[in-house]
Amino acid sequence: MKKKIVLIGMMGSGKTTIGRILSKILKFDLIDTDLLIEKSCKKKISQIFNEHGEKFFRNKEEKIILDILMNTKKPCVIALGGGAFLNKELQKVILKDTISIWLDTSIELIHKRCKKSNQRPLLHESNGKNLKKIIKDLLKIRKPIYSKAKFVVKASDTPINVCNKILTYIKDLI
Ligand code: S3P
Repeated sequence: MKKKIVLIGMMGSGKTTIGRILSKILKFDLIDTDLLIEKSCKKKISQIFNEHGEKFFRNKEEKIILDILMNTKKPCVIALGGGAFLNKELQKVILKDTISIWLDTSIELIHKRCKKSNQRPLLHESNGKNLKKIIKDLLKIRKPIYSKAKFVVKASDTPINVCNKILTYIKDLI
């Protein structure tokens, strides 16, 4: 039986919201990996990117998530930062030891949710590239990787409906 549920997907796909509801229903702990990174660095994600660069962030992200995957014994729902599943080592452990779920969301919804956020350094418009194009380009690279998750849930529905869909998929596994 697997007791870790890992929510995977793009920024704005609803991992934190779904994670919150799902963990409550299942009475599992909720772990938000970005929050843990912020706590460990005592800085916001955008500040970490600005002051130390993406490579530093990715190293920190790998270390913190591996630690959770190896050492957390209590059942938990893990809301994973949008880029973490691209890391091969993390991907291997997540696919082996957890129930992984990709929250597959439309470009339009991601755009709507992220356009007001200034906390997502990878979505800053630059070099004339607008937000929709940035999201589209990231998704093109990431979709084939996200799709390796054990389950895919179309996540453009209401959060409670998305959670119910997830629960029907995982009911025999937890
Ligand atoms: C990132 C997603 C962010 C955060 C960082 C990088 C990404 O997390 O980890 O800004 O590469 O997609 P959310 O998916 O929770 O926004």
